[in-house]
Amino acid sequence: MPQRVSLTQFLVEEQRTGRVSADLRLLFEVVAHAVRAIGATVSKGALLGVLGEAGTENVQGEVQKKLDVIANEIMLQSCEWGGTLAAMASEELETICHIPSTLPRGDYLLLFDPLDGSSNIDVNVTIGTIFSVLRNPQAKNPTEADFLQPGRDQVAAGYAAYGPSTQLVLTVGEGVHGFTLDREVGDFIYTDPFMAIPAETREYAINASNARHWEAPVQRYIAELQQGRDGPRGSDFNMRWIASMVADVHRVLTRGGIFMYPLDEKCRAKGGKLRLMYEANPMAMLVEQAGGAATTGRSRILDIIPEHLHQRVPVILGSRAEVERVTSYHLDPSS
Ligand code: AHG
Ligand code: MN
Ligand code: MN
Repeated sequence: MPQRVSLTQFLVEEQRTGRVSADLRLLFEVVAHAVRAIGATVSKGALLGVLGEAGTENVQGEVQKKLDVIANEIMLQSCEWGGTLAAMASEELETICHIPSTLPRGDYLLLFDPLDGSSNIDVNVTIGTIFSVLRNPQAKNPTEADFLQPGRDQVAAGYAAYGPSTQLVLTVGEGVHGFTLDREVGDFIYTDPFMAIPAETREYAINASNARHWEAPVQRYIAELQQGRDGPRGSDFNMRWIASMVADVHRVLTRGGIFMYPLDEKCRAKGGKLRLMYEANPMAMLVEQAGGAATTGRSRILDIIPEHLHQRVPVILGSRAEVERVTSYHLDPSS
């Protein structure tokens, strides 16, 4: 029987090589604990009465589902006591969340989207949790300004996917590593070492119902894909859209592809649909670490200097050759 390596063993070995500090190792363990708790709640669904709307709206004016609220609470409660964090920020909270003064504080900042893909909760389709780890730049109680660091400065990033199996995927800037939860044993097992995105792909993901709102470069790119072997690409392309960023990006990390939530006339006023700090940045770090690329169509996502916590950005990520092509169309004035 092949030897099974648990997340704990993986992290201990990473710490021995110096790639992961003791505090970061503990932070991953704590996040993994929260993810197990969220996964257990998600998997019980209607049996626990956790489906449906919470009857509230978050800071971004989005209707909160019960699971948005529950997952947010689990993340906050699980992560605040570990002693590794100086503060947290969440999609579901307007302002940053300080660590209570009764608890020890650490050097890291944690940002998260506690429940990604909310529209899929009630229909039993894969949803997830996304997280990003930054260093607290000052040895004092952080403010929101301390969170506004470009994605290239992330210490670590990752996500959990609650699908047919629960998976945890993470990076500390040395490749992308995937783990699958053994529910009976309660351990995450190292199943996907050094996940890599093929440079070429024949699969794309975009919400095509927004087609009439897209900018010209996106119209051009998608039209060429749809012409298939009869068009300039000379090849047929397949399309998938799950509407959970975690699930769509997980597919891209697993077998390649391009994922796009570009700027369009519908979301232009907000700057895009997806959130920079806890959706685009962590996914961009993972995708780049897996050999792919991530841009807004005009510039590298990880180089954006954030202006506010809940900032939105256009996102184009995945197989390098395709992302570079879409980006070149944006930079080509004749597109
Ligand atoms: P969230 O559930 O955290 O608000 O995120 C939803 C996001 C993302 O997961 C997905 O890619 C996108 O919204 C789907 O948007 P559409 O419903 O417009 O397709
Ligand atoms: Mn989300
Ligand atoms: Mn969410």
